[in-house]
Amino acid sequence: MTAVSELRTPFTELLGIEHPVVQGGMMWVGRAELAAAVSEAGGLGIVTALTQPTPADLAAEIARTRKLTDKPFGVNLTILPSISPPPYDEYRRAIVDSGVTIVETAGASPEPYMDFFHEHGVRVIHKCTSVRHARKAERVGVAAVSIDGFECAGHPGEDDIPGLVLVPAAADALSIPFIASGGFADGRGLAAALVLGADGVNMGTRFLCSEESPVAEEVKRRIVAATELDTNLIFRPLRNTARVAKNSVSDEVVRILDGGGTFADVQGLVAGSRGRRVFEDGDLEAGIWGVGLVQGIIRDVPPAGEIVTRVVREARVVLDAALRRFSA
Ligand SMILES: Cc1cc2nc3c(=O)[nH]c(=O)nc-3n(C[C@H](O)[C@H](O)[C@H](O)COP(=O)(O)O)c2cc1C
Repeated sequence: MTAVSELRTPFTELLGIEHPVVQGGMMWVGRAELAAAVSEAGGLGIVTALTQPTPADLAAEIARTRKLTDKPFGVNLTILPSISPPPYDEYRRAIVDSGVTIVETAGASPEPYMDFFHEHGVRVIHKCTSVRHARKAERVGVAAVSIDGFECAGHPGEDDIPGLVLVPAAADALSIPFIASGGFADGRGLAAALVLGADGVNMGTRFLCSEESPVAEEVKRRIVAATELDTNLIFRPLRNTARVAKNSVSDEVVRILDGGGTFADVQGLVAGSRGRRVFEDGDLEAGIWGVGLVQGIIRDVPPAGEIVTRVVREARVVLDAALRRFSA
């Protein structure tokens, strides 16, 4: 991997990282090896808290990450509606007791926890899908925002605003640093995000399809082969939309809910344990698994660190070329 000079923005200055490239939290995927590889290359790797079965396991995973890199990394804490919620307070405690000072929050407003995080010197990056939620996050004291467009894997919200509008709208509305998320995989995307007013990019699917990503090779090969048409939006009628890979299971979930079915009718199909089998066994039809539209422009499975440096290098090349075209 050839080194690339730092690409500084207010976001990199805030967090003390070299490049404005973040690996977003990913359930079952955001483990020590991946997060450390991204941070080691100068980006920001993020360990996903709830992938660890207990707060003690999270503390061990954070310790493992620290053995692999001495550069900054973060921890994602996703708060989603749940029938039996995990012990969020204990996970938060494990994060601060482990000395982590960067937390990516998602799923719900971080407001109730801001005092706790501030007391422990944590800078919060709140990931959200609308300008109004981004502004609220700024008001309650987060250090930065990550704004997810409609293209993204996982939960795009219900407003359906793609990045091309969402990113400049966020730039106009926010005073704190923010990064653009959803649909980014290469230097063209980073260049575009910077031009639209963001201070960097957050990527999920691109890092899901990297060497250090702990998912079966079949999943990575499917992402490389898939096009931008190969996702489904499930749970739309329940107003809890999620973008997942198109397969027989997600097709069936869409069919049942569009036909007036309830969550109880699809609960068995969408069980986390089934989705986990996709990642662990490589059985692509075992359950639902998150992936973004951007899979349509992902063509390889490089080391995660190579992704960080390649994206930065390419962004410089495309910005230079665009400027030359203008001034010609
Ligand atoms: C397999 C997978 C699992 C994810 N799990 C989470 C999660 O647990 N919490 C979260 O905040 N975001 C999660 N995300 C969303 C990513 O962090 C990121 O916001 C999103 O992937 C950005 O869109 P992109 O895939 O187009 O880059 C997940 C994404 C993927 C692909």
